[in-house]
Amino acid sequence: MDKRKMMPKRPRMENLRGPIANGPIQTRPLVALLDGRDCSIEMPILKDVATVAFCDAQSTSEIHEKVLNEAVGALMWHTIILTKEDLEKFKTLRIIVRIGSGVDNIDVKAAGELGIAVCNVPGYGVEEVADTTLCLILNLYRRTYWLANMVREGKKFTGPEQVREAATGCARIRGDTLGIVGLGRIGSAVALRAKAFGFTVIFYDPYLPDGIEKSLGLTRVYTLQDLLFQSDCVSLHCTLNEHNHHLINEYTIKQMRPGAFLVNTARGGLVDDDALAAALKQGRIRAAALDVHENEPYNVFQGQSANQCESYLSPCLTLSRLTI
Ligand SMILES: NC(=O)c1ccc[n+]([C@@H]2O[C@H](COP(=O)([O-])OP(=O)(O)OC[C@H]3O[C@@H](n4cnc5c(N)ncnc54)[C@H](O)[C@@H]3O)[C@@H](O)[C@H]2O)c1
Repeated sequence: MDKRKMMPKRPRMENLRGPIANGPIQTRPLVALLDGRDCSIEMPILKDVATVAFCDAQSTSEIHEKVLNEAVGALMWHTIILTKEDLEKFKTLRIIVRIGSGVDNIDVKAAGELGIAVCNVPGYGVEEVADTTLCLILNLYRRTYWLANMVREGKKFTGPEQVREAATGCARIRGDTLGIVGLGRIGSAVALRAKAFGFTVIFYDPYLPDGIEKSLGLTRVYTLQDLLFQSDCVSLHCTLNEHNHHLINEYTIKQMRPGAFLVNTARGGLVDDDALAAALKQGRIRAAALDVHENEPYNVFQGQSANQCESYLSPCLTLSRLTI
């Protein structure tokens, strides 16, 4: 018997969102940028087919009713979250485009159930994020950020002893092991760059097919524990999903090499900030470079980790974030 005949029919999108008008279009469809104001790229592209509006909202409660009632397309960066309840407020929405790669700020399952397609831009910022990651790693090893600050603050280096003292903590890259968690587009770009600097590069990514390590000339490990155990510097490049929230936590930090570095340019939710702050304070993690934080915009002087901010500020390099 044909198995397909036995399967229940999937509901048609028309049932969920109403049919697409099949006839002369009365009004131009409305497309809205939810967070942000700058539509200078989208406007010229869509000008003949749609009306483009911007909302500059940080939550759906700030979005104008006209957009909630009439928008068929929504564009969004990473600074607004769309839960199921938020999605239900849009009465005519058919497509959401994430201007960026991560879709972790959208309830994609709920969107599917409501008949709203979710698209992203997978190649967004691959080279730039990889370059920034290397910049952060190099800073951790060579301390250029701190040394530049010392000079700016007027420190004079008059003799070799002072130079040596100032450079305390600078580490040699060649031969150290960089552990990459998530060897996707950005992770691979980081791996290729890091090899050129002399790192031994290992990676952990359980979702990739066998043999990818041979194509890129890397060493694959099969558990996160192995990666943490072997790495002098750990760099996070996996997508944030329901399985890996706080992947770096009190327990996994204990599996890292004492004095290892941590870099996160992926998603803030991958790291438990409080566990990291404690590990920095104890010197268990020597320094961390974070381009992303769980709660953004991030203020080191506020929130649960405020009492530990001193430890963040001294060993940890927290750079202002890059656009995602
Ligand atoms: N800082 C920024 O401005 C910025 C910009 C773009 C993307 N990002 C983030 O960078 C990360 C990587 O982006 P990408 O474009 O390379 O994504 P990608 O989808 O190409 O790669 C992600 C990889 O992570 C792997 N992965 C998923 N869960 C994992 C886990 N638990 N352990 C190990 N590996 C796991 C996947 O198999 C995949 O190979 C994403 O989190 C993305 O949101 C940040």
